[in-house]
Amino acid sequence: MVPPSTKTNVYKNWERKRYNLTSSQRDRYRQISHESYQAKQLAEQGKLAAIHAINIPNLDPTVLMPQLTASSYATLSLFSGGGGLDLGFEQAGFQHSGSYELIPICGQTLQANRPQWQVCSGPEQGDVTRVDWQPYRGQIDVVQGGPPCQPFSVAGDQAGADDERNLWGEFVRAVNTIEPKAFVAENVPGLMSTKFKSFVQMYILAPLPNYHIMKFELNAVEFGVPQIRRRVFFVGFRSKQVAQTFHIPQPTHVWSEPSKKQQLTLNFATLASVKQPTMGVRGALGLPDIGNDAIAPTLRSGFTGKRNTTSILNSAASQKNWASLQIWPNGVQKDRQAAAAFPAKNGHFRLSVQDCAILQGFPESWQFQGAVYQVLGQIGNSVCPPVAYQVAKAVRAALESQKN
Ligand SMILES: C[S@@+](CC[C@H](N)C(=O)[O-])C[C@H]1O[C@@H](n2cnc3c(N)ncnc32)[C@H](O)[C@@H]1O
Repeated sequence: MVPPSTKTNVYKNWERKRYNLTSSQRDRYRQISHESYQAKQLAEQGKLAAIHAINIPNLDPTVLMPQLTASSYATLSLFSGGGGLDLGFEQAGFQHSGSYELIPICGQTLQANRPQWQVCSGPEQGDVTRVDWQPYRGQIDVVQGGPPCQPFSVAGDQAGADDERNLWGEFVRAVNTIEPKAFVAENVPGLMSTKFKSFVQMYILAPLPNYHIMKFELNAVEFGVPQIRRRVFFVGFRSKQVAQTFHIPQPTHVWSEPSKKQQLTLNFATLASVKQPTMGVRGALGLPDIGNDAIAPTLRSGFTGKRNTTSILNSAASQKNWASLQIWPNGVQKDRQAAAAFPAKNGHFRLSVQDCAILQGFPESWQFQGAVYQVLGQIGNSVCPPVAYQVAKAVRAALESQKN
């Protein structure tokens, strides 16, 4: 096991390497940041006319995950981040037994929202590599977590097992020590690529021989979240019978462009009879009708892009999608008042962290702690809670089917 101090240094070195900029790039970023700072100063002094009203969102993500009755099933959360998976499991009626997370601000978010939860965060309490899981043995029904995805993300180097941040071994160690009835692990779709086929076999499937494991991909847009966000899930059950009763969550929602709704009346009507329509971004955020709406491109994950950035841009290509929605994806503000008072140069709508949270499926009541870039990091790293909810609900149904 790598000592924590060394791990931290490795992480810092990796970050330094990753954000190595040429001097002209650095000058350009400085200039943009200077211009943006000046515009923000003017906005704060009330010298810029507010060009958009404060929006009132139409989408309340709690409707996508109505609270289920409490069950007696206990969950333990590893790599908890800002709580996407934890919230989904809670809504599905699981009893929260503890969260383990390295970054202190994530722990603060969890504790601020759920003071009654046991939250272990920071390098001393929250680092899963240092936890002895024995006391949890036999006490937990479901272990859940999303080991860091950077080693497998197409946005990174895809070094897999050679990346120090590959912590699948720690997830496996927790499951094998605790021996829960089931586990749920989440990651980026990159992990399903042929490149990682032997990694999955060697580091996930083979070391968990006592579990019957299913892997599948879900897209958040198919569960009512106005964002294209594909994620891979590994669900394992100790009992073969229980595993056989598990059903992969099926889409509950469907997105159809408003312009196409007319042409596809028949199809849409057929689909709508079993699936609800997913709202577009503008509809979800309560923005004025511009005759065009769409699903958001994937929001940037917390550890890609420029350090401490307040942008949600995941790729240069997605800039075009945001522009067609007349939404400015950079310089996200701490609240809607600040966003309305700081118009984007091109007149497009400026986002607040609350808007980004809704686009990720977090209810407005879930309050993230930290500076804007830290909140965006927690949002972008999370499993959309309505998706987590569907997986948790399916796991619960399987466990309940064999109860008697
Ligand atoms: C993909 S995110 C998890 C997101 C979370 N499941 C959610 O739905 O919001 C991975 C998390 O693992 C955390 N992490 C990385 N190394 C860790 C370690 N050694 N111990 C505990 N947490 C760690 C990161 O800080 C990050 O928040």
